[in-house]
Amino acid sequence: MNNKTILVLPGDGIGREIVAEAVKVLEWVNKRPGIAFTLEEGLIGGSAYDATGTPLPEDTVTRAKKADAVLLGAVGGPQWDRLDFSLRPERGLLGIRKALDLYCNLRPAQVFAPLLDASPLKREVVEGIDIMVVRELSSGIYFGTPRGVETLADGRRRGFNTLTYSTDEIERVARRAFEAARRRSHKLCSVDKANVLESTALWREVVSELGRKEYPDIALSHMYVDNAAMQLLRNPRQFDCIVTTNMFGDILSDEASMLTGSIGMLPSASLGDANALYEPIHGSAPDIAGKGIANPLATILSVAMMLRYSLSAPEEATLIENAVNRVLEQGWRTADIMQTGAKQIGTVAMGDAVLQALHEEKNQ
Ligand code: IPM
Ligand code: MG
Repeated sequence: MNNKTILVLPGDGIGREIVAEAVKVLEWVNKRPGIAFTLEEGLIGGSAYDATGTPLPEDTVTRAKKADAVLLGAVGGPQWDRLDFSLRPERGLLGIRKALDLYCNLRPAQVFAPLLDASPLKREVVEGIDIMVVRELSSGIYFGTPRGVETLADGRRRGFNTLTYSTDEIERVARRAFEAARRRSHKLCSVDKANVLESTALWREVVSELGRKEYPDIALSHMYVDNAAMQLLRNPRQFDCIVTTNMFGDILSDEASMLTGSIGMLPSASLGDANALYEPIHGSAPDIAGKGIANPLATILSVAMMLRYSLSAPEEATLIENAVNRVLEQGWRTADIMQTGAKQIGTVAMGDAVLQALHEEKNQ
C-alpha cells in the first residue's frame, strides 16, 4: 500500500475528540513496513457551515472523491438545529453519502467478551452475537422526493416524505449483502414492511429473485421490521447478516448496538463502487462534547474496517481489533461502558491504551 490518501473529516461535537484518537492509530499503522499513506483534513457538518456557510463544501466533496478512503467523526449539534433543513449539519453527511454514491453501509454488531455484562440485556442472550447489518444508504425515504412541509388552503400545515426504491437500487445493495453472507455463515435475513408499503414489497420481490437466480447457496429469509426489532431483543443469535432499507437500517443498527454494550463500540463502512467512507455509527453527542469522556473505540474500529476494505491491510486491521479487545480485557473503560471493578478513563487515555496494546502485540 503506497501513496494512498485518507481524508479525515472530524465534524462536530465529540467528532474531533474521537477522530484524534483514531488518527493516532492510523499514524501507528503508517509506520509499518510497506505502508505509506497521506492524511488530509477537511470540513463537514456544523463546523463547515460556520466556516464556509455550507455543511458540505465543494472542496470536501472533490477531495473525498479523490481520496482512497474517508474517515468521518460525527456531525450535528443544538446550535445548528434552527437552521433551514438544507443547511443543517446532517445534510453534510447525507450529501457526502449521496455525492460518493455510498449505497452499502456495513454495520457489524459484535460482542467483545470482556463487555458481555455491559449490555443491558442478559449475558445468555447476547453471548456470541455477531450480526452484520447491511443498510441501504443512498436512497429510500432519506432522499425520496417530493418532500417538504406545505401550508394547506385551510391554514393547516402538512409534512411529507417519499419512500422510493427502484429495482437497481435494491439489487445493488442486496448483491453486496449476499456477498457478505457468503463470506460469513451463508444466512441472510431481508427486513421490510412488505405487508404495508409497496416500495418494500418490491424490495422483497427483487431480493428474492436475486437470491433464487444468483445466490442459491444462501439461506434467505424475510422479516417485517416490527418483528425484526422484537426478535433482535428476544433472540439476537438467530441473526447473521441482515439487509434492509435506509431508515429501517438506521433504527435497527442503533438497536443492535445496545446488544454489544454501547453505541460507542460500533464502527461502520459506507461503500460505493468507487469510494468508501468509515465512521462510528453514533452521533456527535453534544451533551458530552469537550469533556474528554467520549468513547473513541467505534472510530478506532472503523479504522480497522478501512484498512481491511479500502487499504488492503487486513493484518493491521486484525492487530487493531485485537488491541481493542486486549484493552477491554485489561479493564479499561470509558464512561459509557463502565462496569463495577473496571477502571474508568477518558478519550485520550483510551486512545493511548490502544496504542500501548498495539506496541505490546507487535513485540510479542
Ligand atoms: C446514522 C445517523 C445519521 C442517519 C444522521 C446523523 C443523519 O443517525 O449514521 O445512523 O440517520 O443516517
Ligand atoms: Mg443512526
